[in-house]
Amino acid sequence: MNYQAYAHIYDDEYRDYTEDIQFYVRWARRCAAPALELGCGTGRILLALAEAGCPVWGLELCEPMLERARQKLARLPSQVAETVRLVQGDMRDFDLGQEFGLIYLPFREFMHLAQEEEQLSCLDAIHRHLSPNGRLIINLYDMDLVTLSQRSESNVPLYRQHGGDYVDPRNGHKVYLSSASHYQPSTQTLHEERFYDRVDPEGAVVERRMVKITQRWFFRWEMHHLLHRANFRVHELFGGYERQPIGEMGSEMIFIARPANEKELQSEVEWLENKLARIRSYKRK
Ligand SMILES: C[S@@+](CC[C@H](N)C(=O)[O-])C[C@H]1O[C@@H](n2cnc3c(N)ncnc32)[C@H](O)[C@@H]1O
Repeated sequence: MNYQAYAHIYDDEYRDYTEDIQFYVRWARRCAAPALELGCGTGRILLALAEAGCPVWGLELCEPMLERARQKLARLPSQVAETVRLVQGDMRDFDLGQEFGLIYLPFREFMHLAQEEEQLSCLDAIHRHLSPNGRLIINLYDMDLVTLSQRSESNVPLYRQHGGDYVDPRNGHKVYLSSASHYQPSTQTLHEERFYDRVDPEGAVVERRMVKITQRWFFRWEMHHLLHRANFRVHELFGGYERQPIGEMGSEMIFIARPANEKELQSEVEWLENKLARIRSYKRK
């Protein structure tokens, strides 16, 4: 997904979306510093961590999003700004030469990785950067199966939404949001078209802009297996930022994972060795 066209509206659209921030601040305080946010965008969460006294790095693919984060960072007191590192890079493969106590992918970043190879490659890069006692947090959307079952592979949108309108503080324009989402079960992909209608104080529609968002959906046990395959173990799983139990479909899935320990890896090795021995014995027959 291309965030180039999104950079200049992102902060206005999500100015009031703050419900996840303290969750990550609390985890950053519990884990060894520094923390790393993958897909840090304009710094919505990352800068809050820094202001709360938690050293943090951010990796971001889209230069215009990162530039916004740099501008906001420059406005913070120097003793806070010094604790932040912003790096342009791709979460599918990175080498930062630094170990982290916490690596987190908030706001459904991982859902931007459509292919199995890129998901595994990202998890592998995370594994190389996470300290043995560190924590990985991945936030995903918990798909509402009831809604899904109503619109399989059809051209009719899964849902149309209005809402999330905001006022642009620079010129008083009201921006009205609407979106149409199509779900493709065969690829577990959601294609969303978001429309932004900008209306000036006289009521003239001065701009209509569309942003396309593509997200790959994960189901609970699929993610569980994926993490296991990448040598992580699920430590906790929450259904919301107040540590609610998972269960209410259509809300959040927040995986807290840790690297597998020596004993767990050893048992994987033994399992693989047994499998290999069986295959070799078949070949000899
Ligand atoms: C939904 S935004 C979230 C930004 C920020 N984490 C927040 O919570 O406000 C997703 C971000 O992930 C970035 N992103 C998408 N794919 C990426 C990739 N392969 N590597 C690094 N960043 C990526 C996008 O450019 C975008 O800034």
